[in-house]
Amino acid sequence: MVTINNDSAPILTHSIEHLRQQVQQWHREGHKVAFVPTMGALHFGHLSLVELARQKADKTIASIFVNPAQFAPHEDLATYPRQEEDDLNKLAGAGCDSIYLPNSNEMYPGGFSTSINVDDLSSNLCGISRPHFFSGVATVVCKLLNQCTPDFAIFGEKDYQQLLVIMRMVRDLDIPVEIVSGAIVRESDGLAMSSRNAYLSDANRKIAGQLNTSLQSAISILCQGAAVKRTLHDTTQSLRDVGFDELDYLEIRSGTDLSLYGPGALSTRQLQDARIFAAVLIGKIRLIDNMKLKP
Ligand code: PAJ
Repeated sequence: MVTINNDSAPILTHSIEHLRQQVQQWHREGHKVAFVPTMGALHFGHLSLVELARQKADKTIASIFVNPAQFAPHEDLATYPRQEEDDLNKLAGAGCDSIYLPNSNEMYPGGFSTSINVDDLSSNLCGISRPHFFSGVATVVCKLLNQCTPDFAIFGEKDYQQLLVIMRMVRDLDIPVEIVSGAIVRESDGLAMSSRNAYLSDANRKIAGQLNTSLQSAISILCQGAAVKRTLHDTTQSLRDVGFDELDYLEIRSGTDLSLYGPGALSTRQLQDARIFAAVLIGKIRLIDNMKLKP
């Protein structure tokens, strides 16, 4: 039994029916509803999305569901951090009106056999080393949006490819919701906040902070007109030098449709649209980050 230590306790919802009734009531009362889907182990990055949701709408719902469909068998589903009581208190403190904690049997009933693939945007970056990931994400987000029927759904730029996949799915399938994006919240050394940062040892945590520094210096070199291929080659070397064990990818792509930029210098138009995307490993911990080249 989980209790929330807060005076303005949000409504806890476990069933689709209860969630729908709540949202229908709010809509009848003329309220706009914003929804923040999460997998829990909440940090300020998640809470910044709740804050954004509260700015956009009258009522805010957050969900916590560690979605098995987006983890491959060798990935960390079993050990993914779970801290429900702490999460509920954080969401209450952030002013959430309702928290949806879906029941796995209702989410994936026996015989569940539908999946959504956003082929184009899922075929590069994280889609290469995690081939089933975006299908798992798109399917669960589609379900959550159908269950919640919010006016707005908020996603972080931390998972930029995921954000684009969801926007494309919503457009392609005519899901009546406005997708809103929230900026990446970072630690003081620039490391993007992530539930998985908790797995880092003290030594590896220091190395992790260098990812942002390296990306920032690559951006400043690219903005001075350097060639993409050469810059990424040098940045890869510097990431290895500071202690990252492996580089999954380091690429410059369009922030609109993820088309690949380079190998030469970027045009003025490309510079406006480009983002740098990186996925690195320290030991077994995989970190991702991305940044716009021109703010
Ligand atoms: P999760 O990793 O819990 O992230 C929930 C939301 O928080 C996502 O939109 C993510 O982009 C955002 N987020 C995470 N770290 C952030 C940071 N440092 N700054 C800003 N936003 C940040 O992403 C998922 O869960 C799942 O794939 C989900 C969409 C819930 C589907 O299962």
